This record gives sequence, structure tokens and C-alpha cells, in this order.
Amino acid sequence: MKTSPMFFLTLAAMAGLSLGLSLPAQAAGSAEAARSKVSMCIGCHGIPLYHTAYPEVYHVPKIAGQSPDYIVKALKAYKDGGRSHPSMTGIALGLTDSDIADLAAYYGKAK
Ligand code: HEC
Repeated sequence: MKTSPMFFLTLAAMAGLSLGLSLPAQAAGSAEAARSKVSMCIGCHGIPLYHTAYPEVYHVPKIAGQSPDYIVKALKAYKDGGRSHPSMTGIALGLTDSDIADLAAYYGKAK
């Protein structure tokens, strides 16, 4: 049986298309993917009732168990200037939207 090369080209194009279309569906954020990222956060947020000593004494809020929506909004607000705090603004500026989604998924599940 002879199959035209066009057939395979069409198949490949369709596979590529469906891959491209399925990507945005992952935007929900993955707690698993956050495991490698939370090392930046646990220094401050992992310690119950923690108060930093530098640059000034301030209370660090507990974020484990917060709703993921709230965490996303807070991090984006630090990033775009809607909220400002010397430590959190610096950290949020280094996070991509997918980092934020992953971290929110992680902390939303953590207790
Ligand atoms: C240097 C210490 C420090 C580190 C590191 C840090 N945070 Fe924070 N974070 C704070 C402090 C202090 C606040 C409270 C700031 C304020 O009053 O606005 C805060 C606030 C927050 C809030 C808002 C909480 C609320 O109740 O409104 C979120 C969400 C958050 N941090 C997430 C993170 C994530 C995710 C990371 C890691 C990528 C991280 N933080 C790393 C110190 C830190």
C-alpha cells in the first residue's frame, strides 16, 4: 500500500496544532512544580509567628492554607505596585505568572 507523504505532513501539522491548543489549559498552577520554588519563601513564611529582624522588625503573615486566589492577587499586587513591602516587592518582581500560579496552588493546599 502506498501512502502519500502529504498524509504524514497533515498528521504532523494536526498533532502540532492540538499540542499548541492544549497548553493554555495548564494555567491553573501546579503544587508539584512549586516544590522547587518555595525554597525562596520558607525562610520567612515557614516559621510560625516569625518576626524578621532586618531591615526592621515586622510580622510575617501565614500564607499556608490561604485561598490560592488570595495568594495570586497579593503577589500580583506586590509586583505591579498595588501593594508594597520591601521584601515582598523584591520577591514578587522575580516571579513569573506561572511561578505565582504554582506557588498559590502549593500554599493553598499546605496547612
Ligand atoms: C524576606 C522575608 C520574606 C520572604 C523570603 C517571602 N516573604 Fe512573603 N511576605 C513577607 C512579609 C513581611 C509579608 C507581609 C508584607 C506586608 O505587610 O504587606 C509577606 C506577605 C506575603 C503575602 C501576602 C499575605 C497576606 O496575608 O496578605 C503573600 C501571598 C506572600 N508573602 C507570599 C510569598 C511567597 C509565595 C514567597 C516566596 C516566593 C514569599 N512570600 C517570600 C516576607 C517574606
